[in-house]
Amino acid sequence: MNKKENIEPRTPEKHEQTRRAFLKMGTGAVASFAGLIFAVPFLDSLISQSMRVKIGKFVKVGPVLFLPDGVPEKMFFDERDEDAYIDEVERRDVWVVKNGDDVTAFSPVCPHLGCRYNWNAEDQHFVCPCHGSVFAKDGKVLHGPAPRGLDKFPTKVSNGFLSVKWERFKLGVSKRELV
Ligand code: FES
Repeated sequence: MNKKENIEPRTPEKHEQTRRAFLKMGTGAVASFAGLIFAVPFLDSLISQSMRVKIGKFVKVGPVLFLPDGVPEKMFFDERDEDAYIDEVERRDVWVVKNGDDVTAFSPVCPHLGCRYNWNAEDQHFVCPCHGSVFAKDGKVLHGPAPRGLDKFPTKVSNGFLSVKWERFKLGVSKRELV
């Protein structure tokens, strides 16, 4: 059989069908590409955020050289979330206790249910106003219902400046675990 006999002539209907199929494929590809453009940074920000919570990083808090020994001091600092899709700055605070070269930074969050506790200079204890938990200056729990002592952040002191790694801990459990 002659090859040329197999080739069907292109009718206007056939031409229109081919054109529509081509346009349909092109539109689908463009839509998928646009979806990817928007989805990738969004997914990236979600992944980065969860990684950040787990990994954390050291952030400069302030000078500790002249803090009096054994007197808890609340220090504030700003943590900039540089990896976030939207630039964010979070105001943080820590309770810092210095004893010579040893500097401890406690999370300001009560390990019972997450209230903010305070230092009572008269009694020389940390006291949580929500359910009355009491903690010693070294963070040990003296009275519940808090199931464990105060949570400590990893610290670094360089040239008299304290840096801490901000972390979140599970509340209401006796074993200290990162969230
Ligand atoms: S939240 Fe602190 S004692 Fe309950």
